Order: sequence, then structure tokens, then C-alpha cells
Amino acid sequence: MTDLALGSLSTRLRDATKEEHERTESSPFVVALMAGELDRNAYAAMLGQTYLFYVVIEEAGERWRGDAVVGSFVSDALLRRDALEADLAWLFGPGWRDEVAPLPATSRYIDRLRQVCFSSRSGFVAHHYTRYLGDLSGGQIIRAKLRSLYGLTGDGVRFYVFDQIAKPKVFKDDYRALIDTAEWAAGEPANLLAEANEAFRLNRGVFDDLGKALGVGWVGSCEQ
Ligand code: HEM
Repeated sequence: MTDLALGSLSTRLRDATKEEHERTESSPFVVALMAGELDRNAYAAMLGQTYLFYVVIEEAGERWRGDAVVGSFVSDALLRRDALEADLAWLFGPGWRDEVAPLPATSRYIDRLRQVCFSSRSGFVAHHYTRYLGDLSGGQIIRAKLRSLYGLTGDGVRFYVFDQIAKPKVFKDDYRALIDTAEWAAGEPANLLAEANEAFRLNRGVFDDLGKALGVGWVGSCEQ
């Protein structure tokens, strides 16, 4: 069902998550990363956490591959797991798996993914959208900063390179069209909006934990 009452669903989704997006991109960890105040170890720590939740998002993708309603969201061009493994092996060395352990917020994120992404179509798309459209948007800005500020070009940043997607804008427009034309069941559009906001909050939690673990941008009251 396409609900055009308040604009297309994809537009409503972007609008409904605007505030959470702004909060997420202003997380102290993200701001410090984008300002060149961190080092490659901090970036590697972020990528390690990213790996842990992408494994689950992509496992959920396999659950829905071929599904009549949301199967078309599952695109091999998006898959990040191999790139993440290559990046982590380059950043940490061959024993990288021993270096990557979930922070508390990452465990909460993974628990939520397991709870909603395997049983709910809109829950799955909410998490899929939040990460992949983010990686194709802000992720490309982050990629440019990793190059200019941290000297990372090929190895270590393959996660940000979608070499099967020649034109991210076209891909994102097509993705939004999928959101708008999917045969959602009653209640699913509303769930998509709510769960995408939850996905942003969970991502922000990971940034906050990374900030705390690395002593960046103490999160608390700083009134003087
Ligand atoms: C430095 C951090 C970030 C910057 C500078 C940034 C910037 C942007 C920009 C400029 C867009 C609009 C692109 C367009 O219109 O095509 C965008 C879209 C988006 N970003 Fe971010 N972003 C950041 C972090 C994140 C994070 C951490 C997430 C998710 C966890 C995220 C999720 C999204 C999503 C889902 C969209 C697509 C919105 C839509 O068109 O429906 N972003 N971002």
C-alpha cells in the first residue's frame, strides 16, 4: 500500500528521522573524527563495531532475499561484510577478530536487530535504510575526510567504496522508489518510521560508547 496522504513514504521517512540524523552526525565521536582529532586506531575501533552489526544486518538480508515485498531491497551491490573483513585485517593484522569485541551499545543494537529484522519486513527495511543509505550519503563525506585527514585511501576504507554502484544518487532514488511502492501491510509504514528512528538512536549509542572508550567528547553536563 502506498500512502500518499502526507507525501511519499520515503519523504516522510527522511523527514521523520531528520532530527535523529542531526543528533547522530553531531555525536562527539563523529565530530572529532570529522575534525581530524582522532587517529587510525579510533577509526579502526569504529569499524570493528560496524562489522559486528553489519554481519547481522546482512544475515537478515539473506532471510528476506526473494521475499515478494522486501526482497528487492536486498542488493549484492550493497554488501559490506567482505570489505569490512579486508579493512579490519589491514588495520589490525591477521588476528583482527580478537581485537573486535562488542561495546555495550553494540550489543544492544545487535539484540534489537535480532529482535526485529528477522520477523518484521518494515523493521528490516528500517535498519537496512538507516545504514546503507547513510553509507551512500554521509558515508561518502566520511570517506573523503578519512582520505584528507587520516591518509586512508584504498586499504582500510573499502567499507566506504561501493564499486558496483556507479551513481549513488540514482541508486538512492531507486531505493526510495522501492520504499514508496512496496506492498506494505497495515501498520508497517508507521513501524518503518518508528524503527528507523530507533536505528539512529542505536547508532548514536555506539558512537557514544566509542567516545567514552576513547575519552573523546565526554558525554554529560558541561554547564559552568
Ligand atoms: C559525519 C556524519 C554524517 C554526515 C556528514 C551525513 C550527511 C548526510 C547527507 C548530506 C545526507 C543527504 C544525502 C542526499 O540527499 O542524498 C545524508 C543522508 C542520510 N544519512 Fe547521513 N550523515 C552522517 C552520518 C550518518 C549516520 C551515522 C547515519 C546512520 C547511522 C546516517 C544516515 C543517513 C541516511 C539514512 C540518509 C538518507 C536520508 C534520505 O534521503 O532518506 N548518516 N547524510
